[in-house]
Amino acid sequence: MAIEPLVDGHGRRIGDVRVSVTDRCNFRCQYCMPAEGLPWLERAEILSFEEIERVVGVLAGMGVGDVRLTGGEPLVRRDLPRLAAMLRAVPGVRELALTTNGYLLERDAAALVEAGIDRFNVSIDSLQRDRFFAMTRRDALPQVLRGLEALAAFPQAHPIKVNAVAIRGFTEDEVIPFAQFAREQPYEVRFIEFMPLDADHEWTPDAVLSGEEVRAIVESRWPLVEVPREAHATARVFRFADGHGSLGFVNPVSEPFCADCDRIRLTADGRLRTCLFSLRETDLRTPLRAGCSDEELTEIVRDAVWRKELKHRVNEPGFVQPERTMSRIGG
Ligand code: 5AD
Ligand code: SF4
Repeated sequence: MAIEPLVDGHGRRIGDVRVSVTDRCNFRCQYCMPAEGLPWLERAEILSFEEIERVVGVLAGMGVGDVRLTGGEPLVRRDLPRLAAMLRAVPGVRELALTTNGYLLERDAAALVEAGIDRFNVSIDSLQRDRFFAMTRRDALPQVLRGLEALAAFPQAHPIKVNAVAIRGFTEDEVIPFAQFAREQPYEVRFIEFMPLDADHEWTPDAVLSGEEVRAIVESRWPLVEVPREAHATARVFRFADGHGSLGFVNPVSEPFCADCDRIRLTADGRLRTCLFSLRETDLRTPLRAGCSDEELTEIVRDAVWRKELKHRVNEPGFVQPERTMSRIGG
């Protein structure tokens, strides 16, 4: 059967879905969650593995072949490798990726690779233990680095990406150590501009340390050469001119890449979001649980995606931060 692609009203073809498997997290990153945590969803509110598999199957049938599992922290969801294996077997799923804070990777790396996850992003905001603790509110850097090493032992898990959120007044001192890390270790470090998705509403435009600013700090030490951008890539990638590794810059605030966005998101409670910053979302859980057919589900999805936002308005006056924090959306 020929696939009728999933397209939005602005002519963008959707090829990527980020699936949040839980709103829970074992960290409390400053730029995401409040120190005391958030009220967690009830078990019954969260999509079952079978429900996630069904939605992913319907999406993959429309050409959405790239699937990324996120949270909260996805590894706190019990049996996640079982879900990974289920999704790996869904026809049309091409790439299966995972974004994690790494805390449980030492335990799970082997099972996740075995289940067929092909791409891993591990979030690390500082390579200094006390500053990592300050940012995540968990003294967990050694544990995360052990997890990263456990993962790196699997050749098929490479290239592994390490993501650092760049915040003014914090990240400047991390740039050179991260660049050094990227030069010495087999990881691609990516700096992500701080976005207004934090529970504490501490975000201000000034708190964004831009990708250009980070790059200037790196280039004061090591010249970089830009690598041509791949279609729909969120990151601009640069390699060190002397051939030792590369760095990525995800600049959603200073250089929005909405025009090329091919992504949608499924929240842990079964809402379809067409933008990180959506103020509106589409409930898939209710029709799923009411026994809708695949055709009905397809129509609901097509209709929601047709109205995908043209772009985010973070840089515009009157921008309204969504109620959901990053932990309740999925990165
Ligand atoms: N701005 C930018 N990135 C964020 N992340 C979480 N909250 C924010 C934010 N407010 C990142 C995490 C992780 C991914 C899921 O999203 O660090 O890498
Ligand atoms: Fe947890 Fe990720 Fe949010 Fe940090 S950014 S609190 S690791 S969900």
